[in-house]
Amino acid sequence: MPEIIRKITIIKPDDWHVHLRDNEILKKVIHYTGKFYNRALIMPNLDSPITNCFKSIHYRSKILNAMNLKYKFQPLMTCYLTRFTMPEELKIGFSKKIFIAAKLYPNDSTTNSKTGIKDISYIIRVLECMEQIGMPLLIHGEEIDQNIDIYDREAKFIENTLEPLRNKFPKLKIVLEHITTKESVEYIKKSDPYYLSATITPHHLMHNRNDMFFGGIQPYLYCLPVLKNKTDQIALREAIASGDRHFFLGSDTAPHLHKNKINIVGRAGIFNAPSSLLCYVQVFEEMNALKYLQSFCSENGPKFYNMPINKKTITLVKSSYRVIKKINVGKNNIIVPFLAGKNLNWSIED
Ligand code: NCD
Ligand code: ZN
Repeated sequence: MPEIIRKITIIKPDDWHVHLRDNEILKKVIHYTGKFYNRALIMPNLDSPITNCFKSIHYRSKILNAMNLKYKFQPLMTCYLTRFTMPEELKIGFSKKIFIAAKLYPNDSTTNSKTGIKDISYIIRVLECMEQIGMPLLIHGEEIDQNIDIYDREAKFIENTLEPLRNKFPKLKIVLEHITTKESVEYIKKSDPYYLSATITPHHLMHNRNDMFFGGIQPYLYCLPVLKNKTDQIALREAIASGDRHFFLGSDTAPHLHKNKINIVGRAGIFNAPSSLLCYVQVFEEMNALKYLQSFCSENGPKFYNMPINKKTITLVKSSYRVIKKINVGKNNIIVPFLAGKNLNWSIED
């Protein structure tokens, strides 16, 4: 009989992929990330993207102002790459720790990526500089060619863009963000984890594309890269359950107002901050791999980013936790979280 674990204490985790947005939404969502995580890597795809040091400093102070002082939470910032990004900007930003990494959004690939990169050749000098200074490149890995089937865009990205990029810049540190496929797992595993690692989200671990169409269309399971099939889901679950250090926690929590999720054209993104950590624990338990929970949540990420591992710990207990149904934003708007109103098996000990 396997031992039944009812309580687990781990080093406080970090979330290496977080969208906090700005203004009213920022104020409402920040506490959820602050409660569970010590540090979070903040994505720069605001309506007006964070493309330079000045904007980043300003945005970071807004985040800290919005934060409840109860949590000692550290936002780590990223720079949004455009064809106009100057290597000098990254050099200064990285040396002063204004930026921890830079994010490559292929043009029009996801939320607020209209000024993303159409062709890697536009940013060759930037990539040369990043390789030289050891600044990580974070990639939304999907091809943007509309002729490529949406379910194949991540695999094609590896073949057509990532592999040539890595051949050209073998010492560039890269994170392939929110991987979704079996091919990605296999590709990442073959690499040196110091140079290529990947984040995995709770929703890609818990769901596959069938769930997105279960009983009708489920806008709250729509994100990019879109959920893939069951085989892919299993490959992701096995990847984290194997304790492999290439993989670490990046929830891709991405709040959108309800009215924008259920619009004629609904936005991509899943707001999972209220439950992300509890979802990961649940999956690790289902996979009988709780012994690797801490390395995935708290160690592999800092190792990749050359940062100290957190000193604090948190304790998770096996007791039912109901996810909040909605968050009010202003008078008339709400945000609905991932698994709203559902019960999870684990909660955090206060
Ligand atoms: C993210 C967002 O809304 O900012 N959406 C998503 O579906 N994941 C952007 C992203 O990470 O692609
Ligand atoms: Zn994201």
